[in-house]
Amino acid sequence: MLKRVVVLASGGGSNFENLVNKADKTGIKVAGLIVDRKGVYAIKRAELLGIPFKIVSKKSFASKAEFEQKMIDIIEDWRCEYILLAGFMSILSPKFIKLYERRILNIHPSLLPAFKGAHGIRDAFHYGVKISGTTVHYVDNGVDTGEIIMQHAVELSDKDTLQTFEEKIHQAEYSLYPEAIQKVINISEEQ
Ligand code: GRF
Repeated sequence: MLKRVVVLASGGGSNFENLVNKADKTGIKVAGLIVDRKGVYAIKRAELLGIPFKIVSKKSFASKAEFEQKMIDIIEDWRCEYILLAGFMSILSPKFIKLYERRILNIHPSLLPAFKGAHGIRDAFHYGVKISGTTVHYVDNGVDTGEIIMQHAVELSDKDTLQTFEEKIHQAEYSLYPEAIQKVINISEEQ
């Protein structure tokens, strides 16, 4: 049985699109996309892919609790078992995380615990690392601190520019995220 998942994004949505394209092989059904802001390209991708989407704009809620409750209502309505963060820029509350314990995954564009935060690719590049990569982890109450599920290393050559490095990281993400999701599903089925 395919596991129903929701993807949460705030930007371009290339990981979202990749997950949709590899859904069957991964063992998931992407029931929908939630974005926390208007006008992002991920919405366009959902339209083109024919995937349901909801814009839950943080700004239109009086509190974080109401914003999160709206997302919970949608996630329950779509009957999703897993929540896949893919460039989602809102920090989730401990209450939300507890509700979906070990069922929220995130992809981060560095080899954690190095280069946490919103600019993992740029920070690693400017630091001058020779190896970086991407990490899929469970989401806990910290930022990019949850238990690591899988990592994929990416080497930098002297010829790499920020742009070519970024492209290498994204390609690594496209193979790692589906693989890590499969691993999590297998673990949950063995239990
Ligand atoms: C990815 O690099 C991901 O690791 C990070 O945000 C980026 C999202 O890219 N968390 P996209 O919106 O999936 O294209």
